[in-house]
Amino acid sequence: MYKINCLNKISETGLGLFTDHYVNVDRHEDANGIIVRSAKMHDMDLPNTIEAIARAGAGVNNIPLEKCAEKGIVVFNTPGANANGVKEMVLATMIMAARNLIGGVNWVTSCQADPDVANLVEKNKAKFVGSEIKGKKLGVIGLGAVGILVANAANKLEMEVYGYDPFISVEHAWKLSKFIKPIKSVDDIFRECDFITVHVPLSDSTKGMFNKNAFEQMKDGVVLLNFSRDTLVEEDMLIEALKTGKVAKYVTDFPNPKVCGTEGVIAIPHLGASTAESEENCAVMAVEQMMNYLEKGNIKNS
Ligand code: MLT
Repeated sequence: MYKINCLNKISETGLGLFTDHYVNVDRHEDANGIIVRSAKMHDMDLPNTIEAIARAGAGVNNIPLEKCAEKGIVVFNTPGANANGVKEMVLATMIMAARNLIGGVNWVTSCQADPDVANLVEKNKAKFVGSEIKGKKLGVIGLGAVGILVANAANKLEMEVYGYDPFISVEHAWKLSKFIKPIKSVDDIFRECDFITVHVPLSDSTKGMFNKNAFEQMKDGVVLLNFSRDTLVEEDMLIEALKTGKVAKYVTDFPNPKVCGTEGVIAIPHLGASTAESEENCAVMAVEQMMNYLEKGNIKNS
């Protein structure tokens, strides 16, 4: 019998794949495998019985990778399994930001009980005039599963799409999506684009990549979308850039008190991958990886 400890609730479809040889245990028992979504594991004791950890999601920054390597624990993630969910969220919020939808909706909510609301709308709607995304330049930083889907979808919406990835060549980027104008340096994205969306993992080389130098190069009024991880962005520099209007809107899936209070921030409670479909895909992939490894020793991460 294999013992599995699920640290977060995952889709029943995924859990249903476990055969009779598996039993769910809690963290006080010695498990063979851990399935996790967002729970932070850095301070957790990892019993010597643990052979594998499967993350139902792409990022693995909630898992103590070094400790796992020392103990010989294999770590899986589920690349691409939630990419469509994130792509749709990026597109939705990019348009929301361009059209001032949050400001408009909040304003209506604040005055909709007023019997004169129709007249108020006529007087105030000019405050919420937005811009269209058609013809605008979108910079996609990170051309993995999500970045490529975003690039292709933005192209269909008639945006001009620039792509950059710190880990792949320009030629390879072009093979991944023929709609992307591949560029050699991330600085070109900072300098050229009206909208910038980032889809890279958090690592020592990407942490703080949106720093003073990056913001200084950007066009005035740029919209920045972050569905990767909050620490890619240096908060103080971002707040300064929002205050001066260098950044018109910052869409983030990682609300934190320092940034949320600043005008121009659209904060979402980590919902990028929160769709029934994405959650099911991630859970299925994570459970299959776990069973494959525990029973057959197979390491297959996609
Ligand atoms: C991811 O890394 O793919 C997301 O954080 C998934 C999630 O929302 O759990």
